Amino acid sequence: MATTATSVAATLLLSLLLLARARGADDYSGFVYAGCSQGRYASGTQYASDVDSVLTSVANSAPYAPYANFTSPTSNSVVGLYQCRSDLPASVCTGCVRSAISRLSSLCAWATGGAVQLRACFVRYGNDTFLGKQDTAVLFKKCGGSPGDAGGAAMRDSALGALVAAAAPAGGGYRAGGSGGVQAMSQCVGDLGAKACSDCVSAAAGQLKAGCGYATAGEVYLGKCYARFWANGAGGFSSGAAGNRYGFGPRLYGEHGDRLVLAVAGGFFTSLAYFTLALM
Ligand SMILES: *[C@@H]1O[C@H](CO)[C@@H](O)[C@H](O)[C@H]1NC(C)=O
Ligand SMILES: *[C@@H]1O[C@H](CO)[C@@H](O)[C@H](O)[C@H]1NC(C)=O
Repeated sequence: MATTATSVAATLLLSLLLLARARGADDYSGFVYAGCSQGRYASGTQYASDVDSVLTSVANSAPYAPYANFTSPTSNSVVGLYQCRSDLPASVCTGCVRSAISRLSSLCAWATGGAVQLRACFVRYGNDTFLGKQDTAVLFKKCGGSPGDAGGAAMRDSALGALVAAAAPAGGGYRAGGSGGVQAMSQCVGDLGAKACSDCVSAAAGQLKAGCGYATAGEVYLGKCYARFWANGAGGFSSGAAGNRYGFGPRLYGEHGDRLVLAVAGGFFTSLAYFTLALM
């Protein structure tokens, strides 16, 4: 009896520790990238209050839905939208969106448009017409983990293929897939229809397959979707990445060292004269 109680307590403690570790491992408000328009507005103007109002609507909506868009009723037509990872609870979405808006107001203060991607959510506002438009420009890309091999790369390709083949997501746009020791996930912004979402995920998967060599983890963020893959420590794809946040080791492959790697290739940031900011 006492032994059972002790072992139940021990199991519970272990579960709590694992849970805490899993929570800690998912840094939902972690910064990925941000971009701000070069155009500016002045304080005290109608534009300023339109931006405030759409961002307030964004913050207020986050507890109730993983995606929403808002347009100011004035002639400025400021649009604000957010997209949370739609597999996560509303409380995560709420916290992430709050944090994203606070990042936006410090990074993109007075910019007519801005976007920020955190681990679990994306927020964008502006008066350029981005709502409902496809955008597969690469904004951020990172490959990492420990060295893998051809077998692992084949599992990666198949895990990413599963994302592309996944049934059209009903409200949310989150997809997950796995193959052997590799897991993959993707998320579209909710203003894309099912077909456009599949096309975007397909473009993201193509970027990861072509650009990550034998890396055991990678992620790419396009204008309207992103995809990630990571070795889950099983199946021989390499356990070297296990235990690191999102499977990224301290070393990164590629040309840029172990900090953020920014890849901006003529997407909405450049075509609309946005510039990207990378912070650690
Ligand atoms: C967006 O707003 C800024 C500031 O008011 C203005 O200069 C710019 O022309 C607007 N852009 C569009 C596409 O309306
Ligand atoms: C924007 O929001 C409105 C109101 O909720 C919704 O009816 C519309 O479908 C949304 N548009 C897009 C492109 O997401």
